[in-house]
Amino acid sequence: MHSSTLFGLLAAAAATVLAKPCKQDHQAAAAEVKCPIVFDGRVKATAVPTDFDSYSTSIFNPDYVKGQNLKWSDILKFPNTPTAARFDNATYKPFEVTISDASIFQTQKGFRRAGLQLQGDTNTGSPGSKGVKTIHFSLRWDAQRALNLSHEYLNVWHEASDYSANQFNFETGAILGQSGLARDTWKVLDRKNKQIWSTPIVKNDWQNFAITLDFDKNTLRVYYSQGDEPLKSVTSAVSNDNSGEGQYQIGILKKPTGTSDVVNSGYQESKLNEGLIYGSLFIEDSANGCVSL
Ligand SMILES: *[C@@H]1O[C@H](CO)[C@@H](O)[C@H](O)[C@H]1NC(C)=O
Ligand SMILES: *[C@@H]1O[C@H](CO)[C@@H](O)[C@H](O)[C@H]1NC(C)=O
Repeated sequence: MHSSTLFGLLAAAAATVLAKPCKQDHQAAAAEVKCPIVFDGRVKATAVPTDFDSYSTSIFNPDYVKGQNLKWSDILKFPNTPTAARFDNATYKPFEVTISDASIFQTQKGFRRAGLQLQGDTNTGSPGSKGVKTIHFSLRWDAQRALNLSHEYLNVWHEASDYSANQFNFETGAILGQSGLARDTWKVLDRKNKQIWSTPIVKNDWQNFAITLDFDKNTLRVYYSQGDEPLKSVTSAVSNDNSGEGQYQIGILKKPTGTSDVVNSGYQESKLNEGLIYGSLFIEDSANGCVSL
């Protein structure tokens, strides 16, 4: 190679480096939602915890599903994260769902749970369980309130209206009765609790998920990306029984260990202080194959 050519290449490379804008202080622009939103679970940047205690100010059901003596203002936190979730712009902020020893719903002493239901997502007749819908959510691990992956956690699911099954479960940790599955992954399980996809938990970045439920064709399809990357389809439209209507639930349901009656008994450590950070939560209409990526 001629030394003049080499010099030219080096000069060009140096110019490229210098021309690169410094983006450290700037948040990448939020991705646009392309399809009609059926339920918007994105929390306004101006929201305060007590907004979530009443129907008139909450986007969620203020009464469910949580410890009997807790209010949602006791449960939800608004952590500062280094970046916003992919579909959250400056109008929205991340929220954290937490559980403690008081997170006992009704008489379910085996579980610790705090699950958000979207207002309007009724147990029967909801637009969320008709046609083709995609639920979007982004997650961020909180090292200060780490989940204990020796337990099984449900984080996002759709429960049939007669409460006999969940059409899908998005989970992490040690799935009871399935010791062959890795613990430190996010996993999507179908109605029969069979894992159809998983990805390792990333502890210092957003992970973005979308699940399309086709209630006519009885399929489910998973999309995933990390950080600001566009979502990519990571499964085919897997056959799944989506019948039975019901509701979405978003948050934490932690199962106990050491019991076959997980609802009512088993082991939960005390002085629990666990949480999971959510952002970019919404359900969009995916009729005609529309999915925001
Ligand atoms: C954020 O997005 C919403 C629609 O998704 C839009 O109405 C709003 O103006 C945007 N806000 C900012 C600060 O970009
Ligand atoms: C995690 O859960 C296991 C199983 O219940 C328990 O033995 C262990 O003490 C827990 N770890 C922490 C840090 O609480």
